Amino acid sequence: MGLLEDIPAIEKAALDELKAVDTPDALEAWRIRYLGSKGAVKATMQRLKEVPKEQKPAAGKAANQLKNALQQAYDSRSSELGAARKPRPARRIEDVTLPGKRPRLGHVHVITQTTEEICEIFGRMGFTVASGPEVEDERHNFDCLNIPPAHPARDPWENFYIDEKTMLRSQTSTVQIRVMENQPPPVRIIAPGRVYRPDTVDATHSFMFHQVEGLYVDTGVSMSDLKTCLDQFCKALLGHDVATRFRPSFFPFTEPSAEVDMLFHYDDGSSEWIELGGCGMVDPNVLDAVGYDSEKYTGYAFGLGIERMAMRKYDIPDIRLLFENDIRFLEQF
Ligand code: DAH
Repeated sequence: MGLLEDIPAIEKAALDELKAVDTPDALEAWRIRYLGSKGAVKATMQRLKEVPKEQKPAAGKAANQLKNALQQAYDSRSSELGAARKPRPARRIEDVTLPGKRPRLGHVHVITQTTEEICEIFGRMGFTVASGPEVEDERHNFDCLNIPPAHPARDPWENFYIDEKTMLRSQTSTVQIRVMENQPPPVRIIAPGRVYRPDTVDATHSFMFHQVEGLYVDTGVSMSDLKTCLDQFCKALLGHDVATRFRPSFFPFTEPSAEVDMLFHYDDGSSEWIELGGCGMVDPNVLDAVGYDSEKYTGYAFGLGIERMAMRKYDIPDIRLLFENDIRFLEQF
């Protein structure tokens, strides 16, 4: 059959099929079948080549009419279906009126909270906060603190040495030296931070714990200033009924030296002396080691255990609880 005879048949078939089309997907399939680049209209156009010359004008016209008729039919069916089509749900619907998902908020660790409070109290007494490295050399951890070469505190079993001269600091007293090396007197600092000792871990010991160091150097600083400062500090941290006492002791870097205890009152009415740390008047050898004039300046120093204070304040029975990272425990503070 010739093209001219085929065209009405193609048109009829196409329009009949289009009547049955009732979904956008079916319409698209129809469009591809008839109007697509490999569809029937395109094929008809290609067949024009085979048509004898004298029939060409008529066949060309018929082919164009086919194309226009199908395109028009497609357009109108498309708009009918489009109007009837239910709006497709958007791929992702954001309902901005829904309550948001709350991220799980963490909070500051109880030791950090205590440290911040300690800094705040000493801040009110004129102390600024200093810090130093946790990996230290023997010079700052021992030599400048007047700790002689054969002192038992230097024993490898008492410290985490990294090499012969380097270690994890065993005390925050190192920061006293670092601060004094870097500034002339007067000095009034505290230095909270981690310290490390190879202690066997139990309810009151950990291989890592926190201390807060204090140092005040000026002209005319006396032991009574030290006692007042620490007494006021304990009362500010734990309540006005907390008493302090000072027991004679020995530290190589202070002379005289003392250990400071606080009388802590429990809720059941009992009370107990709790050791807080060491303190004393800065040994002139330490002042000399950093180039301060020990004839002119005096000072006091102290080093207190932060875990001890936090454990009393929050009634925590075991130091290990602080470092196990158990959310159920930490959430309580
Ligand atoms: N550094 C000492 C320790 O870890 C504590 C200490 C004692 C610090 C007396 C001081 C001090 O500043 O004067 O045991």
